[in-house]
Amino acid sequence: MMKASSLSPGARTQHVFGLVAIIWFKSAVSAAGEALELQTIPGVVAQCGDNVTLTCDASSLLLSDIRSFNWVGRNKSLCKHDDEHDPEVLCESTAETTHHKLTLTLINVMPVHQGKYLCKLSSKIGVKYTSSFVKVQDCFGGSDSSRNESHAVCWFNGVYPSGTVHWFQGNANSTESASTQEVEDQHGQYNIISTINVKKNLPYNCSLWIPGASKYLVTLVIQPSAVKVKASGSTQIKLQWICMMMEIMMVKFIM
Ligand SMILES: *[C@@H]1O[C@H](CO)[C@@H](O)[C@H](O)[C@H]1NC(C)=O
Ligand SMILES: *[C@@H]1O[C@H](CO)[C@@H](O)[C@H](O)[C@H]1NC(C)=O
Ligand SMILES: *[C@@H]1O[C@H](CO)[C@@H](O)[C@H](O)[C@H]1NC(C)=O
Ligand SMILES: *[C@@H]1O[C@H](CO)[C@@H](O)[C@H](O)[C@H]1NC(C)=O
Ligand SMILES: *[C@@H]1O[C@H](CO)[C@@H](O)[C@H](O)[C@H]1NC(C)=O
Repeated sequence: MMKASSLSPGARTQHVFGLVAIIWFKSAVSAAGEALELQTIPGVVAQCGDNVTLTCDASSLLLSDIRSFNWVGRNKSLCKHDDEHDPEVLCESTAETTHHKLTLTLINVMPVHQGKYLCKLSSKIGVKYTSSFVKVQDCFGGSDSSRNESHAVCWFNGVYPSGTVHWFQGNANSTESASTQEVEDQHGQYNIISTINVKKNLPYNCSLWIPGASKYLVTLVIQPSAVKVKASGSTQIKLQWICMMMEIMMVKFIM
């Protein structure tokens, strides 16, 4: 038990997928014994915003023998054969003699939708289940940065799984002197903001590190504060003004 709880997230996922695969296999085998089969895909991996389709096939069953046939997820019935369905999903049911198919489509999948979905069939023979696990990963909404004379700030929005922000200036790792905060939104995505006190007037890199995937998802390069660029712009305008004034004065002088 101790060993199982210390598994890395990746290994745990595999473990879950393994379990789901075993359950699926078992339900197919025992169903065959009763001449009834229930089949679905054991696992689906999706990104935020995807539409995920799960199908459940029941064979060797007459329509008149079906008491109920539905997809259950997040503790509620989402999609029911010959009945209305949850407004957040699409649901389709088809039948050919003894073959029945129930298709559930999750629209705009978010981290809160991650989990196990059960296909449940209740017939005269008995009740059968099979399940699909929906895993959500690699979500990234967008990023932005800003900098003034004293601070540099980076934002990363719509991130899942969560990440940390690493800062670099040249070859120096400045992460220790930054402060990072994350907020989870109602969809289970993270919005991350990281601030650092500017030390030298050189570019900073801020990178979003996803520990679960052991990779940098995105790196922003923040140039020294834009104040100087603006200043030179307005100096140019001033110079143009001075030149124009001089020209007008010279014209007047000549006249
Ligand atoms: C998901 O389905 C909805 C509704 O059918 C559709 O508007 C949307 O474009 C689909 N999204 C993707 C990523 O396919
Ligand atoms: C589902 O219901 C069980 C028991 O009623 C409860 O313990 C669990 O927290 C619920 N899960 C979700 C995702 O709502
Ligand atoms: C610089 O940015 C930080 C963080 O956004 C802000 O708290 C601070 O007031 C800003 N300083 C100046 C001088 O604008
Ligand atoms: C930078 O520092 C952070 C925090 O100290 C550390 O987690 C990260 O591995 C470092 N990255 C590199 C490339 O040195
Ligand atoms: C920081 O950004 C520069 C310019 O894009 C790049 O050459 C450098 O490798 C980056 N450093 C790190 C540590 O990511």
